[in-house]
Amino acid sequence: MEFKKAIGSAVAVIAIIALVIWAGCAERMAAPTPTPAPAPTPAPGPEAPPLYTQEVEPLKPHECGRCHITFYNIIKTEGTKHQIDCTRCHTQFHVYRPGKVQYEDILPKCETCHGQIHGAALAGCSNCHIEAHAPLKIPASPKLEEGCSVCHLEVDKDIKTHISAHTDLDCSSCHHTKHGYIPECMECHEPHTEGMTQADCLSCHPPHTPLKIVCPDETTQETCAACHKKAYDVLKESATKHTELLCTKCHPGQHRTILKCEACHGKPHGVAMLKKFKTCGECHGVAHNLIQTGS
Ligand code: HEC
Ligand code: HEC
Ligand code: HEC
Ligand code: HEC
Ligand code: HEC
Ligand code: HEC
Ligand code: HEC
Ligand code: HEC
Ligand code: HEC
Ligand code: HEC
Ligand code: HEC
Ligand code: HEC
Repeated sequence: MEFKKAIGSAVAVIAIIALVIWAGCAERMAAPTPTPAPAPTPAPGPEAPPLYTQEVEPLKPHECGRCHITFYNIIKTEGTKHQIDCTRCHTQFHVYRPGKVQYEDILPKCETCHGQIHGAALAGCSNCHIEAHAPLKIPASPKLEEGCSVCHLEVDKDIKTHISAHTDLDCSSCHHTKHGYIPECMECHEPHTEGMTQADCLSCHPPHTPLKIVCPDETTQETCAACHKKAYDVLKESATKHTELLCTKCHPGQHRTILKCEACHGKPHGVAMLKKFKTCGECHGVAHNLIQTGS
């Protein structure tokens, strides 16, 4: 029994050795150049990242945006210079504990970065900057109105020292909607003639001192005629050498100015002769309707 077992084992050992030798030869015969043993077949697709080996980095804005999509989008579209990391302002967040940590204490304060940038008179930042994430979104409001005179001292002085019907208006009645809005005059007024543009209005009227009217030199006779039809008609019908002159040649600068004849003609006659007559008009008639002197 024992002997039989030993024989069996020896045969088995010899058989294995023979198999190994044969396998080695067969391999050498099949692949004459030795190659390294093939690695175990990798799983398909990219290697899965090992968990718990990466550095933890602060969340980027778009990652905060996964949950706070509204604020992310506001900054994205209207954030202007506030397009900085959320965490530069929100140095702490998700720490609200009712009764322990007050909500207001968590939220960033403008003054931390900007101080009282407009001075103590304009301290309540959110009165005007109504959305921290869109800092230039400043709608018209009574609170903003209180600040106009602080920041726009010159305009405020101008409008108050040159009394006109505009002096009594709130700044925001014209600059309505949002800070910096520029109104069209025609929102409230009819033009003097058809086809007048905003640029035309402003070429004669400064908006804050609308009665300080300076008509541009190139103003057409027809523009003046909108209000001075009689003067225009007389001048046109007279057909003198004055007829084609622009009204502003004789009425330059500030509205209602009247140049003296001498401003253009100097002293056309002898001093002795002129002394006898009070005005040029005694012989020449009126500027709009010269009495033709012959030539
Ligand atoms: C320039 C600074 C600044 C940046 C940048 C900023 N925030 Fe804010 N955030 C504030 C301030 C200030 C408040 C408090 C506003 C208030 O008092 O109503 C606030 C409020 C919040 C609130 C609370 C809102 C509420 O009404 O309760 C959330 C949520 C928030 N921010 C998320 C974000 C996210 C997300 C980002 C980035 C995508 C971000 N913030 C970027 C300044 C900032
Ligand atoms: C997984 C979702 C999620 C992410 C990501 C996330 N938040 Fe929040 N956050 C919330 C929830 C939920 C609240 C509480 C409910 C609420 O006020 O909207 C909250 C509240 C807040 C508040 C209100 C005040 C407070 O602290 O409790 C701020 C500020 C805030 N988050 C800022 C951020 C910022 C900044 C980031 C990125 C650095 C961020 N959150 C990332 C879900 C998130
Ligand atoms: C963490 C600092 C920080 C906080 C808090 C902060 N800001 Fe700013 N803010 C900035 C930076 C940085 C700029 C860009 C400055 C620059 O480029 O000169 C800026 C610019 C601005 C601008 C000019 C925006 C532009 O596009 O020209 C306004 C307005 C402004 N902030 C208002 C506020 C208000 C209001 C608050 C509070 C609700 C506030 N900021 C809170 C950092 C901050
Ligand atoms: C009465 C309204 C009002 C208040 C109150 C106010 N602001 Fe402003 N702020 C403005 C206006 C209007 C601008 C000009 C915006 C522009 O340039 O279009 C401005 C501009 C700014 C600017 C950018 C100006 C610059 O010099 O670059 C910053 C920053 C700013 N405000 C921060 C603040 C902070 C901080 C507070 C609170 C301490 C505050 N503001 C309070 C109306 C206000
Ligand atoms: C905190 C200071 C501040 C306050 C308050 C303020 N402004 Fe301004 N405003 C500015 C600054 C700074 C500018 C120049 C911004 C620019 O050049 O873009 C400006 C520009 C303007 C402009 C010109 C816009 C353009 O397109 O040329 C108008 C109009 C204006 N402001 C009207 C007002 C009126 C009306 C108020 C009150 C209802 C007001 N502002 C309150 C600071 C202020
Ligand atoms: C009757 C309407 C009206 C009123 C009232 C008015 N504005 Fe204006 N404002 C305008 C118009 C129109 C412009 C544009 C002028 C231009 O384009 O040349 C302007 C321009 C401005 C500007 C920018 C140009 C400049 O002159 O510096 C500022 C700042 C301004 N206004 C501030 C104010 C303030 C502050 C008040 C109140 C004290 C005020 N405005 C009242 C119509 C008005
Ligand atoms: C928000 C409305 C509004 C806007 C915009 C406006 N005005 Fe006026 N304006 C008035 C009111 C109200 C009066 C007084 C009643 C009237 O004459 O209609 C007035 C009066 C005037 C007067 C007469 C002033 C006086 O004291 O007799 C002139 C000139 C004038 N506006 C020019 C302009 C010009 C130019 C513009 C554009 C730069 C303009 N207005 C924009 C409301 C406005
Ligand atoms: C060629 C210059 C000129 C132009 C352009 C002009 N105006 Fe006038 N406007 C005047 C003169 C001059 C007066 C009369 C002022 C006086 O009574 O002394 C006047 C008066 C007004 C008055 C006071 C009421 C009235 O009708 O007499 C208003 C309002 C007015 N203008 C609005 C406008 C508007 C709006 C525009 C643009 C559509 C405009 N103006 C364009 C020169 C001009
Ligand atoms: C919107 C109407 C209007 C327009 C446009 C207008 N004016 Fe006048 N103008 C008047 C009014 C009103 C008076 C005052 C009339 C009075 O006192 O009887 C006047 C008076 C005058 C006077 C007389 C001054 C005096 O002391 O008797 C002259 C000159 C004058 N305008 C020239 C012009 C010229 C030139 C233009 C064109 C560049 C012009 N006006 C455009 C309304 C206007
Ligand atoms: C050659 C110079 C000259 C020209 C061109 C001229 N004026 Fe005159 N205008 C005067 C003089 C000078 C007066 C003062 C009265 C006089 O001596 O005739 C006057 C007076 C006026 C007056 C006030 C009294 C009156 O006669 O109605 C008005 C209004 C006037 N001009 C408007 C106009 C208009 C509008 C035009 C263009 C269509 C115009 N003027 C062109 C020189 C001129
Ligand atoms: C803006 C300048 C200007 C003013 C002011 C002016 N004129 Fe003239 N005048 C002229 C011009 C230009 C002519 C044409 C000259 C030429 O063709 O040789 C002229 C021509 C004349 C002529 C010659 C007419 C002819 O048919 O030969 C007379 C006369 C005259 N002016 C008188 C006057 C009187 C009087 C006044 C004052 C009431 C006056 N002028 C104001 C510019 C002016
Ligand atoms: C006593 C009447 C009288 C008075 C006053 C008078 N003129 Fe004359 N003026 C004339 C006569 C006549 C002529 C035409 C004959 C000539 O060419 O000398 C004339 C011609 C002119 C001419 C045209 C000259 C040319 O070369 O064609 C001008 C311009 C003129 N006058 C301007 C004036 C002015 C300006 C005044 C006031 C300072 C004035 N005149 C005062 C009678 C007068």
